[in-house]
Amino acid sequence: MNVRGNVQGNIDGKSVYHEVYARSLADPEGFWAEAAKEIDWIEPPKKIFDPSQGVYGRWFSGGIVNTCYNALDRHVERGRADQIALIHDSPLANSVTKFTYAELLAEVQALAAIMQDFGVAKGDRVILYMPMVPEAVVAMLACARIGAVHSVVFGGFAAKELATRIDDAQPKLILSASCGIEPGRIVQYKPLLDEAIRLAGAKPKACIVLQRPQLVCALTPGRDYDWAGLRRKAMNDGKQAPCVPVAATDPLYILYTSGTTGIPKGVVRDNGGHLVAVKWSMFNLYGVKPGEVWWCGSDIGWVVGHSYIVYGPLLHGATSIMYEGKPVGTPDAGAFWRVISEHKAVAFFTAPTAFRALRKEDPEGKFIRQYDLSTFRTLFLAGERADPPTVKWAEQQLKVPVIDHWWQTETGWCIAGNPVGLGQLPVKHGSPTVPMPGYQVDVVDEAAKPVGPNTMGSIVIKLPMPPGCLPTLWNQDERFKEAYLTEFPGYYKTSDAGYKDEDGYVFVMGRTDDIINVAGHRLSTGGMEEILASHPDVAECAVLGVKDAIKGEVPCGFLVLKAGVKRAPAEIEKEIIALVRDKLGPVAAFKLAITVGRLPKTRSGKILRGTIKKIADGEAWTMPATIEDPKVLDEIGDALKGRV
Ligand code: COA
Ligand code: AMP
Repeated sequence: MNVRGNVQGNIDGKSVYHEVYARSLADPEGFWAEAAKEIDWIEPPKKIFDPSQGVYGRWFSGGIVNTCYNALDRHVERGRADQIALIHDSPLANSVTKFTYAELLAEVQALAAIMQDFGVAKGDRVILYMPMVPEAVVAMLACARIGAVHSVVFGGFAAKELATRIDDAQPKLILSASCGIEPGRIVQYKPLLDEAIRLAGAKPKACIVLQRPQLVCALTPGRDYDWAGLRRKAMNDGKQAPCVPVAATDPLYILYTSGTTGIPKGVVRDNGGHLVAVKWSMFNLYGVKPGEVWWCGSDIGWVVGHSYIVYGPLLHGATSIMYEGKPVGTPDAGAFWRVISEHKAVAFFTAPTAFRALRKEDPEGKFIRQYDLSTFRTLFLAGERADPPTVKWAEQQLKVPVIDHWWQTETGWCIAGNPVGLGQLPVKHGSPTVPMPGYQVDVVDEAAKPVGPNTMGSIVIKLPMPPGCLPTLWNQDERFKEAYLTEFPGYYKTSDAGYKDEDGYVFVMGRTDDIINVAGHRLSTGGMEEILASHPDVAECAVLGVKDAIKGEVPCGFLVLKAGVKRAPAEIEKEIIALVRDKLGPVAAFKLAITVGRLPKTRSGKILRGTIKKIADGEAWTMPATIEDPKVLDEIGDALKGRV
């Protein structure tokens, strides 16, 4: 059995998943060596897996490669020069822009040369604080081309979050834009960028700023450079940076993700493992063939956007759609179907929250029937638990397979999914199906002992994880070990809880830490509590995620005010909401702050967040035996009345 399904996606209608998966565990090196043949190496790896390197071993050590070459140059050299590589479709900017592989390569070569002129070299970090514009893709690939390490910061984060990332990554250069566009408002990036650089200890050498026609900003003399001007000059001068060879184990990017504190974790992605895994997934998991049109509706600020707006489809020689818009309101609930039909996408990947928004707006699916979706084969959902009612609605309306799959920023690609290319397995609603090759997924108890079928526990992945997964955190091997590898020796801790059924289907039910998932965005309640606690009138606080019909969860903050505070609680609550928006960003969707007299605690002083959550969600709850004063829970119930 080789590592791939055939082009029909299965053999004689039977999925080859079980054989392929078994081989990946029995002979991981053989399996991934074969998958690595899909990549053009400058020098092939000396070892497929080297357990002596890194924190838990490294994939493809000794290999020399260039990710941008694999995403662009090789396709141009081999007949795809005139194929569309990227379609940027923006109902918010009212534009559709297409780039062939040759055009995208020319843009990337020029920007890579510009960055080199600013002194950016292999291993240097470059931060991208960009909206969903094609230049952001060009910038990511340009970094990859010259061996620079990009770190994309989601546009919905505020200045302080950007500053934290600048301080950790210490970028030589920041690439940004004058604005993002959200429905009904233009998001000015420049004041956020300026404030972040002011707050950060590490100052970048320069910023390259893309002026969007919707809002032109003033550039800071001596620091900011006009993107279009630099591009024009580089193109006129015929500047083109060649691909810089890098080690397979060199970092391609750092992507910061919420940890259990306000300090985000810098997830490192290497070049070699990422290339092999993401390329493998395009057909075997997603069932997409080179030359086909693929749409991932995420944002380049998230891991899903990295892997499946930019790298996956381009490594595969497919056409990638980049969408700057929303499921509803840009202009209506037909936007997704318009994009699929107009560009003839064969598959679409989004978050369940988008479908909850659609279902609310268009329960009968009237908009769906207005479009020709004959090319559309599969819908993929990830980013949060896909609730069965939403999945069923999507299946009924679209009449295509709806595939839930589970992954994390840390893994870079799917941990458990339903591999369409290997032959789809039966769908069980509520389960992202089965582990992907290379992932030995176990459900364990507190002593790291695997539990039986249908028993809840911590979901862990046996080390080593497959190619593509993080080898460490940026400059923080110890934090990596402590956060992921220590609690369950021999395993990577996903911090998700769930179970496997008797068929080996994985069910992912929720996080075991203080991370919440708001509209598919991963946020730390601990980080929010730090912001609430910084308000001068707040004595104590707790933030937890409460149920929301569209976003899945939204944060809700409980405040205990300092003794002697005379101001109206409503006024302070408003300030708190503004503070979170200002410090963390609008993406936190923090709109609920509730003042209470005291917080329920155990006798040892631990806040009973789980019980508060159950009360807020209207779920059955039992009085915790260790509670200090049971009456506090009634007070919480009263405070919540009419608020959630
Ligand atoms: N820049 C600035 N602000 C942003 C932003 C950005 N890039 N993205 C979101 N925001 C703002 C929104 O405008 C909103 O502001 P508001 O409070 O003024 O209304 C706030 O952040 C909350 O945004 P969100 O929770 O995303 O709600 P939304 O209504 O804008 O969008 C969805 C809803 C479902 C379209 C969106 O959440 C989504 O696409 N989620 C999927 C996430 C994803 O792709 N995850 C990866 C796995 S696929
Ligand atoms: P992120 O790192 O932002 O991709 O978020 C990862 C987290 O989102 C996971 O640890 C899960 O808690 C959650 N998640 C992502 N996909 C799924 C899914 N298909 N089912 C359940 N939870 C998911």
